[in-house]
Amino acid sequence: MKLWQGRFEKPISADADAFNESLSFDRKLWQVDIEASVAHATMLKTCGIVPAEDADKILGGLEAIKADIASGALAVEGAEDIHSFVEGELVKRIGDAGKKLHTARSRNDQVATDMRLYVRKSADGAIALLKGLVETLVSRAKEGARYVMPGFTHLRKAQPINCAQYFNAYSEMFLRDMDRFAACRKRLNVMPLGSAALAGTSYPIDRGITQRLLGFDEISENSLDAVSDRDFVAEYLFCASLALAHLSRLCEDTILYTSDEFGYWNIPDEYSTGSSIMPQKKNPDLPELVRGKTGRVYGHLVGILTTIKGLPLAYNKDLQEDKEAFFDAEETLFSCLSIYTALMKKITLNVSAMFEAAGGGFSTATDVADYLAKRGVPFRDAHAATGKLVRYCLENGKALTDLTLEEFRAVNTAFEEDVLSAVTTRSSAEGRNSVGGSSHRAAMRGISAVRRRLKRF
Ligand code: ARG
Repeated sequence: MKLWQGRFEKPISADADAFNESLSFDRKLWQVDIEASVAHATMLKTCGIVPAEDADKILGGLEAIKADIASGALAVEGAEDIHSFVEGELVKRIGDAGKKLHTARSRNDQVATDMRLYVRKSADGAIALLKGLVETLVSRAKEGARYVMPGFTHLRKAQPINCAQYFNAYSEMFLRDMDRFAACRKRLNVMPLGSAALAGTSYPIDRGITQRLLGFDEISENSLDAVSDRDFVAEYLFCASLALAHLSRLCEDTILYTSDEFGYWNIPDEYSTGSSIMPQKKNPDLPELVRGKTGRVYGHLVGILTTIKGLPLAYNKDLQEDKEAFFDAEETLFSCLSIYTALMKKITLNVSAMFEAAGGGFSTATDVADYLAKRGVPFRDAHAATGKLVRYCLENGKALTDLTLEEFRAVNTAFEEDVLSAVTTRSSAEGRNSVGGSSHRAAMRGISAVRRRLKRF
């Protein structure tokens, strides 16, 4: 049954129908579609637009359809889209009263409303999953606070850092993602219902009633904009893309840190994979897949931006393309966050390997320069003197900790006996006690700061 057959002499051809349909994917909207229809029918009844007797039949019919879809008794199939399906089923069940449901409404404001309800719930879901991930990172940080690991720039050892600071860095990123999803949710919580096809309606509707029933913060102010606005889908896809960008960085670290070359973390067998030909391999397929899927979600973001950019006001069927992109991005985001939270709970830290690595690569050189600067040598000269020491070490196969006082003093006489004990791997990390820094105290403050902000969600 088509909702619009009256004007046509012939039915739509099978291939055109198959190309045009969206039920195969927008069936996911069945719950929100019924929820919005219940609110609309309640409003029509309250405003006296549809007689109470008919409205009650509509409401009863919608509840029954909802229960039957939920139980599996009613299969969602055989219609152009979810809106046609629910309305067609209603008319099948209650007859002519069902034909009054679409009074003062169009599929254009209906689908825009459905999508907002669906994306709103999905933003809440994303926030909850991100929260679980940050909680996991906080517990890893608490464990890591006792240990020191290498900090990198340009993927070269730079300075020793407290291990908690490392995990806190990712918590900061994911907290921003949670904020972004919350802001996206707030901005999208505006109700298009009542905008009808594009220009509003001549029926004496009360949009306040549907707004309250559906939990929207506001009512849209312009019907042309309301039916054709999919900014919220693009915004959700951006939030998802950036959250996955952060997760993908963590994947990259995981792949490096669990390699034989680094050996800082272990992934347990249950979260690893093997090779069909090389018996010795233990591969990080899960982080690689998450990193790979990130690109797919970026694709959906670029897709929706491109779909929107050339549309004349108001609704155009191009907008139907928002759904597959959104559903796939949502599913991808949720599965990536879930698997990574499980994985981060299971990794184990090789604390001695991390500590040993933290002292290599002259990673305390900045502290040697700082030692001199704190004794009055201008920092630039201290930097140059320490650079000379590093070169001396490289030429003689030594580490900075192997040097004698005489060797130190050969490049600058401001070095005293205490330099031999002042500059160690641990003291290097511990010395940076500035807010947000790498000392144990600063990292513990970082954990508290993360937990404080987590409480807002
Ligand atoms: N399936 C359509 C969509 O997703 C529903 C709205 C159809 N409106 C129309 N005027 N054809 O956008």
